[in-house]
Amino acid sequence: MKQIRHFLTLLDLSPREFRGVIQRASELKTMRNKGVEHRPFSGKSLAMIFEKSSTRTRVSFEAGMEQLGGHALFLSSRDTQLGRGEPIADSARVLSRMVDIVMIRTFSHDIIKVFAEHSAVPVINGLTDQYHPCQLLADMQTWFEHRGDIQGKTVAWIGDGNNMCHSYINAARRLDFKLNICCPEGFDPLAEILDPASGRCEIFRDPMAAAAGADLIVTDVWASMGQEEEQKAREAAFAGFQVTSEMMSVAAGDALFMHCLPAHRGEEVAADVIDNPNSVVWDEAENRLHAQKALMEFLLK
Ligand code: CP
Ligand code: NVA
Repeated sequence: MKQIRHFLTLLDLSPREFRGVIQRASELKTMRNKGVEHRPFSGKSLAMIFEKSSTRTRVSFEAGMEQLGGHALFLSSRDTQLGRGEPIADSARVLSRMVDIVMIRTFSHDIIKVFAEHSAVPVINGLTDQYHPCQLLADMQTWFEHRGDIQGKTVAWIGDGNNMCHSYINAARRLDFKLNICCPEGFDPLAEILDPASGRCEIFRDPMAAAAGADLIVTDVWASMGQEEEQKAREAAFAGFQVTSEMMSVAAGDALFMHCLPAHRGEEVAADVIDNPNSVVWDEAENRLHAQKALMEFLLK
């Protein structure tokens, strides 16, 4: 029987496979820019389950599936039986008999694990409270396109030890770069995710020290989806953690800035950083499209 490949975290890809997906993403980007049609997914469907809001993830998967010749279904938990308590395992069994691939954006990472266990088709993590691996495919594609291989480089993560930070930790393991993680005390990444990567990651409390000499500076919102009520308390806890032009000036001379978006100018990032030519956030957002097309090709091969 053919083994089903899921993409729940970056650790589901070997380093070679990760690099392969990035390379293929750039090829697909070139093909699209040249107007070359590539529609291998004729007759195939992607179910996209969203339990949280999205702009980029929804549009990139839906447009990507269309460009590959397939069809995408947007399923909100509000309008499906999932939102009325149908068990995850049952939903997985049913949906995976009808579609060829599933993407889920949800809260607890356990939900997507249960879904994948009972799914007869590949399942892609479109963000959970713990991880956002699709974003890292796009971030790494963006780095490779601007600067070449990331092996041996230093990335500074400034902000919350959240789902994006966890996926950066996994990327550091897979692509062999150094990660300086700078969070206020109490907002560190989970030890179970950090500990296996401890050789490549270092925790800082001083953002300027974490940014010093870094090749890439990355941040994300201070209050993630599901933490809206903590917004005010988090703004206080993260004071001093805004990525500023002073911080960029102590990084490597050609350092890039990334943010998965949506961004809050004046909170986690200063406007003159995100709107500066060293900021590659628009390429990063666009690359969600190409990277996920490459990922779906890989999983359905
Ligand atoms: N970066 C990202 O995942 O954006 P959306 O929440 O808009 O999908
Ligand atoms: N950490 C953010 C990422 C949004 C794409 C969140 O989970 O809301």
